[in-house]
Amino acid sequence: MTKNTPLRELLESAAQRGIDYRESSPARSVAATADAIANVAKFIEPMPESGVADISVLEQLDAVGTPATVNMTGPRYFGFVIGGSLPVTVASNWLATAWDQNVGMHEITPATATLERVAMNWMIDLFGLPEETSAAFVTGATIANFASLAAARNKVYRDVGWNVEADGLIGAPPVTILVGNEVHPTVIKGIGLLGFGRETVRRLDVDGQGRIDPAKLPSIEGPTIVCTQAGNVNTGAFDPVGDICDAVKPHGAWVHVDGAFGLWAAASPDRAHLCKGFQAADSWATDAHKWLNVPYDSGLAFVRDGAALKSAMSITADYLMTESEFRNPSDYTPELSRRARGVDVWAALKYLGKSGVAEMIDRCCSNARRFAAGLEQAGFPVLNDVVLNQVLVSFGDEARTRGIIDAIQADGTCWCGVTVWQGQAAMRISVCNWSTTQDDVDQSLDAIIRIAKSEVVDEGQ
Ligand SMILES: Cc1ncc(COP(=O)(O)O)c(C=O)c1O
Repeated sequence: MTKNTPLRELLESAAQRGIDYRESSPARSVAATADAIANVAKFIEPMPESGVADISVLEQLDAVGTPATVNMTGPRYFGFVIGGSLPVTVASNWLATAWDQNVGMHEITPATATLERVAMNWMIDLFGLPEETSAAFVTGATIANFASLAAARNKVYRDVGWNVEADGLIGAPPVTILVGNEVHPTVIKGIGLLGFGRETVRRLDVDGQGRIDPAKLPSIEGPTIVCTQAGNVNTGAFDPVGDICDAVKPHGAWVHVDGAFGLWAAASPDRAHLCKGFQAADSWATDAHKWLNVPYDSGLAFVRDGAALKSAMSITADYLMTESEFRNPSDYTPELSRRARGVDVWAALKYLGKSGVAEMIDRCCSNARRFAAGLEQAGFPVLNDVVLNQVLVSFGDEARTRGIIDAIQADGTCWCGVTVWQGQAAMRISVCNWSTTQDDVDQSLDAIIRIAKSEVVDEGQ
């Protein structure tokens, strides 16, 4: 027989456990222990015939799950591109989860739909995007790229008199899709999901930082989509989007910007130059769960031609309140039902303000430069121009680099991942967490340099 704990007691117990987790996060090892990971097997069991007490569900989650988490919210996690969730966003997220609103339609959930609209307009202003831009609150940059490219598909076909939503792709005129050779794989995935075929894209040569050279663009003929990026996932480099727009837009091409983290540079007066000319593009994908530091999952697609996005995404049905004085969030997203992820975004923006966002971006960038300087001083070459929050460091050949990275991950002071940048193995450091301090960088540098030097000595013996 299932046993229910009084609601307040159950939720307070969850909150207490969450608070303990977050309070211990800065001091805890970044890596989970082998024992904790092995313990995860305790979750694997047949589904109970009759349920268990709700509090025991929570207890098992905490006892088995908590120790096996990777300390991604902590200040010394530098893998992938991972934000750490500002406390105010965790708090707002908890409250919004308690509300459990389905934010699809304004009339049904006016509070959350209004918060999303407000957050959308604030970001359009923050990034300096065209006023007419509309946005979709999606799961992450993968789906933001997909949604943006769905709008692009709608528009480039509409321009040649083809209604792709109604008539599909069979028999449709061909579309040229141009991407840089260092395009993020999620853009390619989006292209595949849209039915264009992952292998049909035309890849353009890029420079040593991963940037497209506008002089090497082919001549544009017929329906064309050009995918650019703001912030390469390895180097942090920016395509010269303004120059690319100047070259291709007069010929009717749609320009998309994958700015999963790099778009946030536009919010910092010191880094906005990296986004020069971006406003001329047609769509921009970004993440809030990266550099805005809100909880997973939270991505954003911004599209200048909101009607194109709406045509690609909206649905009608007699039972849905699709007519509304205000925008219906689900008119712009692949999903109908979804959580009110705009609440977390609104909370972060309201708490930080414009200057707070800029300061957070600048702090991460200056910590990235501190990493690069410390590593170079210790004799390890940095492979990229550290223009943003990404650092690529080489420890020599692939086997040695992987060995050192494995040892750094096992040490637990910090967590950095591996990559291969234009044929050379490297360690990636991505500084994206609001709470990372100079002291965290110095502690991490000490550990990285100690391990890298001892592994080099070990190998030489
Ligand atoms: C440039 C770029 N695009 C897209 C993505 C995919 O983002 P998400 O994992 O949030 O879908 C990433 C993730 O790191 C990225 O760096």
